[in-house]
Formats: sequence, C-alpha cells, structure tokens
Amino acid sequence: MRIDILTLFPEMFSALSESILGRAQKDGKIDVRVVNIRDYTQDKHLKCDDYPFGGGAGMVMMPQPIGSAIEALDPEHKARRIYMSPKGETLHQQKVFQLLEYEHLILLCGHYEGVDQRVIDLFIDEKISIGDYVLTGGELPAMVLTDCVSRYVDGVISASSLVDESFSDNLLEYPQYTRPQEYKGLTVPEVLRSGNHAKIDEWRREQSLALTAKRRPDLLK
Ligand SMILES: C[S@@+](CC[C@H](N)C(=O)[O-])C[C@H]1O[C@@H](n2cnc3c(N)ncnc32)[C@H](O)[C@@H]1O
Repeated sequence: MRIDILTLFPEMFSALSESILGRAQKDGKIDVRVVNIRDYTQDKHLKCDDYPFGGGAGMVMMPQPIGSAIEALDPEHKARRIYMSPKGETLHQQKVFQLLEYEHLILLCGHYEGVDQRVIDLFIDEKISIGDYVLTGGELPAMVLTDCVSRYVDGVISASSLVDESFSDNLLEYPQYTRPQEYKGLTVPEVLRSGNHAKIDEWRREQSLALTAKRRPDLLK
C-alpha cells in the first residue's frame, strides 16, 4: 500500500521511520511518502496560507498548493483522498478495514484554521477525525491513521498477533502477563502457567467478555 501524506511540516513524521513501520517501509511492505505542500506553491514567497475571508482569528491554508500537489500525485484520481479533520467521521476499526481496500491513500493534513473549503469540495473523497477534540494540525492524526492501517497490510505484523486483539470480534483483549511470575506481591494467574491451552483459551475469552462488559458495553451490542 502507498500512503502519501501532504503537510506543511514534513519534519514531524520521523516517528514513522521507527520500529515496526520503519521496518515495513525498508522491507517494501508499505510505501509512505511525506510530501511538502510548500514545494507546490506558485507564490514567489512560497506562501501557503492567508487570512480568512470574512475575518476571524488564524490563517487558512490556500487552495492552489494543495490542489497542485494532489493533481501531481494522483492525476487520474485513483487514490482515496482523505482530509484529516475534526469534522470528519470518527476513526474506528471497521473504517481501518475499509481503507485497506485501497492501494493508494492520500492524507491531507490541515494546520492553523484548516484548509480552504474549495480544496475539500474539489479534491477530497472523505474526512476522518481521530476523536472529538481539536489538535493544532492534521499531522498526528495522519500518523495515527497510517499506523493503524499499515499494521494490517500483509507481512507488516505476524498474522497471529492480530488475532484476539481489542476490537476484533467486538471485544477488548484479555490481560497479558510476562516474567517474573511474581511482581510486588502480584502473581500471574495460575491458569496461564498450567500449559492447558483449552483452559487458557477459555480463561482469556471470559476475561475479554468481562472486561468489555465493564468498560465498553456498547461493543457487545
Ligand atoms: C486547529 S485545527 C482546525 C480546526 C477547525 N478550525 C475547526 O474548528 O474544525 C487544524 C487542523 O488540525 C487537524 N485536526 C485537528 N483536530 C483533528 C482531529 N480531531 N482529527 C483529525 N484532524 C484534526 C485538521 O487537519 C485541521 O485542519
């Protein structure tokens, strides 16, 4: 899968070169390209934002640099073009699976007061929010989306790690333990040390159900 991220702050994306996503890119499993919107401005002072018509606080990102960038990256509109926005559909696991159907995603990061509405009207397929709060920019949301989509791309994470995870089967995951057997007076549940895999599976399932009922009863519906 290819993911193009359009931003005015490309330096923020070094996090994507680390750990599992960094390795996935080196191995060619995912192709993440961070694109500086400023490279596409036709303004001789490289300006990419301006005051809002009608007045009000803050700056608005201008349409021309963003439009030119999207047209250059996706001339035939084959990619799914997404604007990271608090006004969008809130991201959830099913949405992640839907996005995996696309071979190419373009993620537009707003900043300041956001982007000129004409960019959204002309170039964007959908808007996605990462939650009901407002961040300073779309860069962190784009990284969140890139991370949760990428881990389901074949070969990025071993398939067994994706089984029983929170939100698979509409359940939260059971508690996990590692060594030592005892830590500050708390011991690992006996059943996990029993070697009886049927019993372990049963215990985990019960824990998942109980945890989900307690913390996220909405998922059980
Ligand atoms: C300060 S916000 C603009 C908020 C906008 N004025 C509003 O009230 O809806 C700047 C940019 O951050 C991004 N952003 C902020 N919160 C977000 C969220 N919860 N999910 C996704 N993107 C978000 C968007 O790209 C947005 O254009």
